[in-house]
Amino acid sequence: MESVGIGIIGAGGIAAAHAKAYQMLGTKAHLIGVADIDEERARAFARRFDIPVWSSENDDILKRDDIQIVSLCLPHHLHAPIALAALQAGKHVLVEKPLAISLEEADSMIRAAQKAKRNLGVVFQLRFESDVQRARLILERQLIGTLFYAEVSCLWWRRPMYYENNWRGKWATEGGGAVINQAIHHIDLLLYLLGMPQRVYAEIDTIAHRIEVEDWCLATLYWDGMKASFCASTCAELEADVSRLLILGTNGSVQMFPFRPHSRQEERHLQIAEACRTIPEQELPGHTAQIHDFVFSVLEKREPRVSAVEGRRALELITAIYQSAFTQEMVELPLTPDSPCYTTAGKLEMARRYTAARAKRT
Ligand SMILES: NC(=O)c1ccc[n+]([C@@H]2O[C@H](COP(=O)([O-])OP(=O)(O)OC[C@H]3O[C@@H](n4cnc5c(N)ncnc54)[C@H](O)[C@@H]3O)[C@@H](O)[C@H]2O)c1
Repeated sequence: MESVGIGIIGAGGIAAAHAKAYQMLGTKAHLIGVADIDEERARAFARRFDIPVWSSENDDILKRDDIQIVSLCLPHHLHAPIALAALQAGKHVLVEKPLAISLEEADSMIRAAQKAKRNLGVVFQLRFESDVQRARLILERQLIGTLFYAEVSCLWWRRPMYYENNWRGKWATEGGGAVINQAIHHIDLLLYLLGMPQRVYAEIDTIAHRIEVEDWCLATLYWDGMKASFCASTCAELEADVSRLLILGTNGSVQMFPFRPHSRQEERHLQIAEACRTIPEQELPGHTAQIHDFVFSVLEKREPRVSAVEGRRALELITAIYQSAFTQEMVELPLTPDSPCYTTAGKLEMARRYTAARAKRT
């Protein structure tokens, strides 16, 4: 295959980043169609990006033979059902984060992709940043010694208007709040750099917004010999949103964002600087780089750099965080299919009970 035809389903806020990234690929990718349940939105999007086909019916995209890749830019609860339909129609599918709202859904998507022999990827654009690659190299080479502590913060603010639509702010459609929507990027980075923790204890709260889901979370994550504190928020009224990842080792540290690796030992500090120099500066924004990687994974018949399995890992830790917050108990990882929040129905029932108990207390 020399080039691929592209369809985009969901023409809201993030879809433009996908369309622009595909357009930058010149002859390698052609935008063929866009669908949105809101036909006028699909039409306007098609006009803006010079896309020949638009529709309010997703099937009008999925049935076309000239489309090989579909980007899903949809509310979270629609990721699984529409990805399944797209895979069944023989498309390679790039899903915006999160992969799905439950592990049950994620597993059915991964199975469907394997069966259809199609690529299924999930957007985690921060992994494509040069500094993230540098941090990973520093840890792989154990340049900061034995790790003992990490701090992960997503202290963001979202205006009340952000939740004034038909899907955000609700367990059934957003699948959670600040953790599954915003801090999922930080959680993915944590997993990418440090691997899956063994246990988690978490608390969630809804502080500033009139929504069902959390706008605040505080958690402690435990590995053998190492701990991390994690907080996620959409209610932090700071001058600017703060994203922080700090990793401490016995011989140094790595901080992001901005990226500041450090060791007091001069020789190690020089080794760190030398390792960093081996990673070239990524010129494209992360989102664009990831979408290009997905297109090339299809053209070159290989796995994308961020596959659905990675999306499932982030969702597993997120599910454990919610389960701990709902039960007020420490949760052991990995989760199994009999974990109470594994299925969508189980998770929603746990959320319902948690919300009812919380309403009684306040
Ligand atoms: N990677 C990132 O940094 C990033 C940033 C923002 C959003 N996102 C993700 O992108 C996704 C979409 O978010 P958004 O902010 O663009 O949301 P949005 O609400 O702006 O857009 C969603 C679109 O889907 C359409 N839609 C709803 N139901 C549909 C259906 N059944 N069939 C077809 N279209 C349908 C809506 O009409 C709307 O245009 C979410 O998963 C979100 O988490 C990712």
